[in-house]
Amino acid sequence: MAEENIKFIDPQHIDLTDVELSGRILDIGGGGEGIIGLLKGENVVAIDRRESELKEAPPGNYLKIIMDAKELKFLDETFDTATAFFTLMYVPLENHQIIFQEIHRVLKKGGEFVVWDFPIPKRGMHEKELYGLMLEVKIRDKNISTGYATKWVKEQDLEYYAKLGASNGFSVVEKYPIDGMFYIRFKKD
Ligand SMILES: C[S@@+](CC[C@H](N)C(=O)[O-])C[C@H]1O[C@@H](n2cnc3c(N)ncnc32)[C@H](O)[C@@H]1O
Repeated sequence: MAEENIKFIDPQHIDLTDVELSGRILDIGGGGEGIIGLLKGENVVAIDRRESELKEAPPGNYLKIIMDAKELKFLDETFDTATAFFTLMYVPLENHQIIFQEIHRVLKKGGEFVVWDFPIPKRGMHEKELYGLMLEVKIRDKNISTGYATKWVKEQDLEYYAKLGASNGFSVVEKYPIDGMFYIRFKKD
């Protein structure tokens, strides 16, 4: 991906050290840097539809499985928590609803779905083709520098996801912007 074709927002920083994620955790799109696997170790099942992304994620004592979030191969009510750490930005809009439904299905009642992502504005005619962010993630004494960029073909913001969750059986427990990003914690009603 040529960097000159990406419109970057200002560099972002996030400290995940004290984030509460309880019980058995399903990390959607957990390849790449494998951030949630690094954070919560053996409690995490990281799924990604791309084998290469799972292989790229650093080794750790979390489980990596090739699986598409549109069709989760788990029984109903398997997980206490689900996470999507800068994953939904890569998912086409038309797949969001089925993925929210699948996550809702595999969560236990009262289970939580935690989303980190960033607002994507409407693309102007002469803008670059990709939209992204450089991100520094702190986990305990470790700092991970990474970057995420996606095709600039959709718009999204915090309220879009809050509504999507609400229309798929979740209530919003917490939602707030973090600098140029946002965070939402849903609960399965
Ligand atoms: C760049 S990663 C996000 C960052 C990653 N969570 C981390 O810790 O670095 C986004 C991932 O979502 C995956 N993905 C996109 N659509 C998916 C789907 N429908 N099911 C499973 N994984 C998907 C992509 O293959 C990609 O590896």
